[in-house]
Amino acid sequence: MRVLILAAGLGKRMKSKYPKVMHKIMGKELINWVINTANKLNPSKIGVVLGYKSELVKEILPENVEIFYQDKQLGTGHAVMAAKDFINNENILILYGDAPLITDKTLKNLINKHISSNADATILTAILDDPTGYGRIIKDENNKLIDIVEEADCSIEQKKIKEINSGFVIYKGDKLLKGLSKIKPNNNQGEYYLTDVPKHLNNIETYILNDFSEILGINNRIQLAEAEKIMKNRTLKQLMLDGVTIIDPDTTYISPEAKIGQDTIIHPMTFIFGDTIIGEDCEIGPMTRLINCKIGNNVKILRSECEDAVIENNVSVGPYSRLRTGTILKDNVKIGNFVETKKTIVNKNTKAQHLTYIGDATIGENVNIGAGTITCNYDGKNKHKTVIGDRVFVGSNSALVAPLTIENDVLIGAGSTITENIPKGALALGRAKQINKENWVFKKREKGE
Ligand code: UD1
Ligand code: CA
Repeated sequence: MRVLILAAGLGKRMKSKYPKVMHKIMGKELINWVINTANKLNPSKIGVVLGYKSELVKEILPENVEIFYQDKQLGTGHAVMAAKDFINNENILILYGDAPLITDKTLKNLINKHISSNADATILTAILDDPTGYGRIIKDENNKLIDIVEEADCSIEQKKIKEINSGFVIYKGDKLLKGLSKIKPNNNQGEYYLTDVPKHLNNIETYILNDFSEILGINNRIQLAEAEKIMKNRTLKQLMLDGVTIIDPDTTYISPEAKIGQDTIIHPMTFIFGDTIIGEDCEIGPMTRLINCKIGNNVKILRSECEDAVIENNVSVGPYSRLRTGTILKDNVKIGNFVETKKTIVNKNTKAQHLTYIGDATIGENVNIGAGTITCNYDGKNKHKTVIGDRVFVGSNSALVAPLTIENDVLIGAGSTITENIPKGALALGRAKQINKENWVFKKREKGE
C-alpha cells in the first residue's frame, strides 16, 4: 500500500503567512502528524502533494516522502492527478494534510475492510448531527454507495443526509487512475472533485467511524486549538488508564511520544514534550517543563526546566533548577534551587543544592558543591572542562576557573578562586588571608569620626 497526503491548499481562513499544514499542534506540524500516522501503517511509500509556499513545507518534511507539486489548486481530484506518477497497482490511501487527528487504528480498520471486501474503493464516512460543509454519502436501497455530493452541489433533500464523506479513502491504484481520467470540473465550484471518482467504479464500500473527532479538518485557528485539545486529551487519558496520575489534565501538556511509568504523579502546569521517558514512582511538577529527557524511577522534579537531560534514579531536582543539554545526573543526586547545569555528568550521591552554575564538567561521587559555586568554563573564546573527583567538598562561593582538575578528597575553602589543579587530599584556599585590626572601630569612634 502507498499513502498520498493532499496538502496543497492555501488555508485562507488561517490568516497566516505560512501554509496551513505548517501550523502546529502539541509542538508538531499538522502535516507531520499525518505523516507520523501514515508511517505506522508501514506503507511502501508516502507521497505528499504541495502547492502554496511548497518550499517552506518541504523544509519540514522527513526525507523519506516523495513530493509532488500542484501549481493551481483546482480541487482534490486535480491534486491526486498531480501525483499520477505515484499511483501504481498497489492500494493507495488518501489522507489530508490538515486533518491530523485520524488514528492508525481507524485507518487499519478501513484498510482491512477494503482488502477483505476486495472493493475498488473504501471510503471512511461518519454520521453527524450537523453534516454542514461536508460531502454527503448517497446510498441506494441496498445500502450501496452510488455517489458523493458536495455541499455546494446538494439538493435540499440531499442536504438532510447525515452520513458524510470524511475525505479519507483507500483505492485500488489502477481503479483510481481509471476513475480520475473520467472526472470533469462541471460542478458549482468548477473543481475536479476526487469525490466524483467512485461513481465511475463498481464496487465501493464504506466504513463508518464512531469517533468523529478523528476526521476534524483544521480551517482556522479556533479549530487548531480544538485539535490541540483533542490530541492532548487523548494522550492524557491513555496515560491515566495506564497508571499515571495526572492531577489537573486541563493544565498538563504531554506529547504523545512521551512514555511515563506506573504510579508517577504529574502535578499541574507541567509540560512534557518530545520523546521524554519517565520511569515509575516519580513526581513531576508543578510548573515544570521537560523536553526530550530520560528519567529513571523515583525522581522528583519541582518547578524546573530540563532539556535533553538524562536523570537516573532517586534524584531530586528543583525548585527552580535548569538542566540544559548534555546534563547527566546519576543515582541519588540532588540539584537544588537556582542551579544550572550544562554538558555535565554528576555522579552518585552528589549534591549541588543552591545557586550554582556547572558547565562542561565531570563531577565525582559524594561531592558537595557549596552554594554559589561557579565553573568559569568560558574565557570569551573557548569553553574549558572542569573535572572534580570523588568526595570533594567545594566551599560556598567558589569560582573554579577551567580548565581544571580537582582530584579525589579535596577540600576547597569557601570563597576561593581556584585557577590551579589540586592534588588529591589537599586543602585549597584561593582567597586573601583575613586580617583583624583590633579595636579599630572603637578608636575611630573616640576620634569622633
Ligand atoms: C473535501 C471533500 C468532502 C469532504 C471533506 C472532508 C472533495 C471534493 N470534497 O471537501 O467531500 O466531506 O473534504 O473534510 O474532495 N487540496 C489540495 N489541492 C486542491 C484542493 C484541496 O491539495 O486543489 C487538499 C487540501 O489542502 C486539504 C484537502 O485537499 O488538505 C481537502 O481539501 P478541502 O478544500 O478542505 O476539501 P473540502 O472542500 O473540505
Ligand atoms: Ca476541508
